Amino acid sequence: MSIEQLAETALAMVAPGKGIIAIDESTGTIAKRFAGVGVENTEENRRAYRELLLTTPKLSDYISGAILYDETLRQSTKDGVPFAKVMTDAGMIPGIKVDKGTHALAGFPGEVVTEGLDGLRARLEEYYKLGARFAKWRAVINIGDDIPSGTCIDANAHALARYAALCQEQGLVPMVEPEVIMDGSHDIDTCYEVTEVTLRSLFASLYEQNVMLEGTILKASMVLPGTTSGDKASVEEVAAATLQCLKSTVPATLPGIVFLSGGQGDEDATAHLDAMNRMGPNPWPLSFSYGRAMQQAALKLWGQDIVNNVAAAQKTVYERARDNGLAALGEWSK
Ligand code: 13P
Repeated sequence: MSIEQLAETALAMVAPGKGIIAIDESTGTIAKRFAGVGVENTEENRRAYRELLLTTPKLSDYISGAILYDETLRQSTKDGVPFAKVMTDAGMIPGIKVDKGTHALAGFPGEVVTEGLDGLRARLEEYYKLGARFAKWRAVINIGDDIPSGTCIDANAHALARYAALCQEQGLVPMVEPEVIMDGSHDIDTCYEVTEVTLRSLFASLYEQNVMLEGTILKASMVLPGTTSGDKASVEEVAAATLQCLKSTVPATLPGIVFLSGGQGDEDATAHLDAMNRMGPNPWPLSFSYGRAMQQAALKLWGQDIVNNVAAAQKTVYERARDNGLAALGEWSK
């Protein structure tokens, strides 16, 4: 795979006014989301729900691609069209979550490392054949008493870089996601410091593993006060701190940065992205790769009546996509 093709895919993922919808919840995670709205976690309900999302009319006005879970990449619409084809036909790029989740980091209580490198080359080869053109790997960095440790940050960065190199070898753009978790009583400055160290370690590892940044997308968390800190940061404070942290750690050759929502309210996630783009010009396009902040309103509606509320749920998906697409241009207003 040439770097030109990878770079072309990466740039298309962050095309002006477009972002990614993350619908790659593992079977365990979607079980929790479904339980929250009283939907049974069956394979058919997961398929129907993902069909609803991916066939939202005119979704590609604001959505460049979607991150799918293994099961979803193998599923089809009720009429038998594979989801990857539905997406490609609509001008959206299929992506695939390839990590195998977080596991306790031995010797470091409270910390986790993401697994999934063993056998990854063969899995990527298959995912490419199934139509995926980018992948995602999520690392989790928790903040708490005396954590994160340097060991945890570096172990996760190393795994992310090994994953990224394998993706590029197999023709997929790696989305590298080191998520600094919002939960905790820490203040915004602590989140800034942890995010800064995490990104420094990540880009050092990507360099060591010969990963081509021109064919890589960063999925970043925002710099926020911990959810139980009692602190409230303004939209401008969050946007300014996040931008400053990214500017001091992320090379300008990267084609783009997308954000996760991480448990922020829908409107907060949109407002923060919009504010960062208004503060531009920035070295890279800044867009979204939201899961919950794209889906939670739609899921709630659908959960009330999974047969008759499909169109109403799709309308909210479209509205969330439009608002976040405008925020990616710094043109959103409430
Ligand atoms: P949230 O936007 O719900 O954090 O999900 C994004 C994601 O893909 C996390 O890996």
